[in-house]
Amino acid sequence: MRTVVCPQLGPLGDIAIEDRPPLAPGPDEVIVNVRAAGVNFVDGLICQGKYQIKPPTPFVPGSEIAGEVAAVGAAVHGVSPGDRVIAMTGFGGFAEQVAVPAALVVRAPDKLGFGQAAALIQSYSTSLFTLSRRTSVTPGEWVLILGAGGGIGLACTDVAVALGAHVIAAASTPEKLEAAEEMGAEATIAYEDEDLKTRARELSGGGVDVVVDTVGGRHSEPALRATRWWGRFCVVGFASGTIPSLPLNQILLNNRTVVGVDWGAWTFRDQAGFSELLTELMKMVESGKLHPPEPAERPLVEAAKAMEDLIERRVIGKVVLVP
Ligand SMILES: NC(=O)c1ccc[n+]([C@@H]2O[C@H](COP(=O)([O-])OP(=O)(O)OC[C@H]3O[C@@H](n4cnc5c(N)ncnc54)[C@H](OP(=O)(O)O)[C@@H]3O)[C@@H](O)[C@H]2O)c1
Repeated sequence: MRTVVCPQLGPLGDIAIEDRPPLAPGPDEVIVNVRAAGVNFVDGLICQGKYQIKPPTPFVPGSEIAGEVAAVGAAVHGVSPGDRVIAMTGFGGFAEQVAVPAALVVRAPDKLGFGQAAALIQSYSTSLFTLSRRTSVTPGEWVLILGAGGGIGLACTDVAVALGAHVIAAASTPEKLEAAEEMGAEATIAYEDEDLKTRARELSGGGVDVVVDTVGGRHSEPALRATRWWGRFCVVGFASGTIPSLPLNQILLNNRTVVGVDWGAWTFRDQAGFSELLTELMKMVESGKLHPPEPAERPLVEAAKAMEDLIERRVIGKVVLVP
């Protein structure tokens, strides 16, 4: 089976394709024939050695997949060959096959294609975790989303609208803003050209209730200043590459709260909580409350290019590898 291999942490150009023998399941494992593997911003950072997690090399990147079960281990119950499933793999997803502990496999919602299903968990569960667990968005509140045309940005837009909020999408290009509007954003701000703080205050009638910041850098402080009385500022990521410093007086004023979001660590520390969140997420997808976007599809051989495109800000929404 063909697999993407990162031989050492460094330039994405070092990534290669290898042929490896087909996998056989351990007693508690499931072998999945991968139909799509979600590519995330962090995958590129990990391969380059720029992320806090530095796996031993060589390794196969790819943390989330959707596919069909090919074989199950002797101790596995409730999952059968042929089932359509989604799994968080940690690593190993960028391949034709992956071995996953059966406990980590989730049935793929019938209404989603493999691409949508593969790109679902990281973006949508981070978004639902942010807006319903780290803060609580209530109907009628105004939510400002930075990087709204990205993977988490679009998912957060979808989740916030499903929770009854008004969304203001902020992004760099008309195409990204249009994608956020299609997802339900009521207003947009082109944050490279417009005054983010002033526009967000105008559009929300005085200030937003919640900011979701996936970008960091120079946009964070004006976004914080755009929050109203009791505003919450959710720190999700630093895609710009710059970790900003926020003035504490701006947090004191208006009784604002800055909320850290570490979804990945939480999924390990509170597996019951994560499982509950996933069940809630799948119900929202099945009932049509959420609308996971159709991702762009790329072949396995373009893994490095797909990661580079994310890092270079060229992707709208999600991208998956299709083995
Ligand atoms: N806290 C958590 O638990 C958690 C979980 C998953 C991911 N994350 C983090 O969240 C961030 C966003 O992830 P994602 O999957 O949404 O990524 P993505 O799909 O690549 O979107 C990131 C967005 O950031 C914006 N951006 C601004 N400056 C950028 C730059 N210099 N390079 C790249 N992008 C830039 C881009 O929008 P514009 O072009 O419109 O500015 C882009 O659409 C990443 O930092 C990721 O590591 C955090």
